[in-house]
Amino acid sequence: MAKKLYIETVGCQMNVLDSELVVASLRKQGYELTDNTTDADTILFNTCSVRQHAEDKIYSALGRLKNAKQTHPHKVIGVLGCMAQKDQRLIFERAPYVDLIVGPGQLHQVPDLIAGIEAGGGPQMEVSLGRKEGSRQQIERSHESFDPLRDAAMRPTPYQAYVRIMIGCDKFCTYCIVPSVRGPEQSRPPSEILIEAQKLASEGCKEIILLGQTVNSYRYKEGDRTTRMSDLLVSLSEIDGLERIKFVTNYPKDMTDDLLTAVRDLPKCAKYLHVPAQSGSNSVLERMKRGYSIEDYREMMERIRSIVPDAAVTSDFIVGFCGETEDDFQLTCKLVHEQRFKNSFIFKYSERPGTRGADLFPDDVPEEVKKRRNNELLAMQNVISEVDNQPFIGRQVEVLIEGPSKASERQGTADSEQLQLTGRTMCDRIVVFDGNRRQIGQTLPIAIYDANAHTLFGAVVTQHVGPELFSLGA
Ligand code: SAH
Ligand code: SF4
Ligand code: F3S
Repeated sequence: MAKKLYIETVGCQMNVLDSELVVASLRKQGYELTDNTTDADTILFNTCSVRQHAEDKIYSALGRLKNAKQTHPHKVIGVLGCMAQKDQRLIFERAPYVDLIVGPGQLHQVPDLIAGIEAGGGPQMEVSLGRKEGSRQQIERSHESFDPLRDAAMRPTPYQAYVRIMIGCDKFCTYCIVPSVRGPEQSRPPSEILIEAQKLASEGCKEIILLGQTVNSYRYKEGDRTTRMSDLLVSLSEIDGLERIKFVTNYPKDMTDDLLTAVRDLPKCAKYLHVPAQSGSNSVLERMKRGYSIEDYREMMERIRSIVPDAAVTSDFIVGFCGETEDDFQLTCKLVHEQRFKNSFIFKYSERPGTRGADLFPDDVPEEVKKRRNNELLAMQNVISEVDNQPFIGRQVEVLIEGPSKASERQGTADSEQLQLTGRTMCDRIVVFDGNRRQIGQTLPIAIYDANAHTLFGAVVTQHVGPELFSLGA
């Protein structure tokens, strides 16, 4: 009988991609997926350390498995990803029944490590070198990118794929754990990216989403030739079959004119830019060591608006960072109000041990204040998002249909023939409509009749008389 794998993923798109690759490598070994831990022979958590809450969630999920391990000692329980890299052996101490700890730079080893545990080899741990545990080259090598060419049959969504173009981060914003858990910034060779994208497209993939912590800092040097992000977009645009290219996340300082011009001129390139500002106050940005002032950010937004006027721009904000005063917070509100982002993700500052922020500044904004600022900014952004979506009412948009909507998942209708579907426009707007299962994966025109802050509601535009009938009738 096939072995069963349960995997839970938290964190960013990098983790979603990593989980896809781990699942594919285990399915090749004969595993099948299950959605409950009771049936599973192997239980994996792909973890995130960006905020305390993400870690707490995993430690409590692990806590719930204590009994399962006592009654089924052969179950393999593994912790993968950023928290595995950050906490390492501490995970064995907090949850002694964990068998496997694998950092994000070592995921290619998962199948062998599980086989080793099953063969009686005891608990296994593979992590990469820390940022001070070797030369730059040694550390880079220890964060190997795990990007095998993917087997189409193993892909969760054949028409859409994440493609990693960079790993790691060297920006070291003072609040952020990512550079220590994901290692040094390294761009993948363009030839590898193109081969991967060509293969995906030849297998029916219509949309690729390029991933990097600071994706627009992409730069690859070979001899005297440097490939920039804009060059990569031009090459990717030439791939037959690909309809859409998106990329996340952008770093404000690296939003160059050549990139914006490429976004404007390449029809396959989504006019959608996620460029987190984090704060509207210079003193906060300085303590965050973001490397730009709010004047620089505004100047960048002006360039975006003038080169790609129809771009949908989204942002991230952290409220309650160390020393953030009410005046600082008001400056963030002012920025949101004035820039009218399509959407913003707003987070309460969560101190991360091991970051420079934790060493340098006290986490001195009380939790209730963080909560209030979070709610206020969110309320303001929601109004802006709703206003931003209103002009779509009465218009027709092209939607790449992704699958059952959240409502059909909740109502248990996700498996029926007729169901509510969801997809996205080129500008990353979520569209929900009634449709048919066979439409999943197609790009269809949808007429929008309603909108709220986060969703456009529409109906499939049916052409009753197609071009063939026109010519027959004529
Ligand atoms: N590389 C990306 C995203 C990194 S993590 C970037 O630079 O934008 C995603 C978001 O989480 C960040 O944009 C930031 O808003 C938030 N974040 C990171 N560390 C955090 C922390 N310690 N507390 C709260 N939010 C944090
Ligand atoms: Fe973290 Fe800053 Fe790097 Fe983004 S750019 S991953 S926020 S250190
Ligand atoms: Fe979290 Fe790691 Fe991504 S810390 S946000 S899963 S890079």
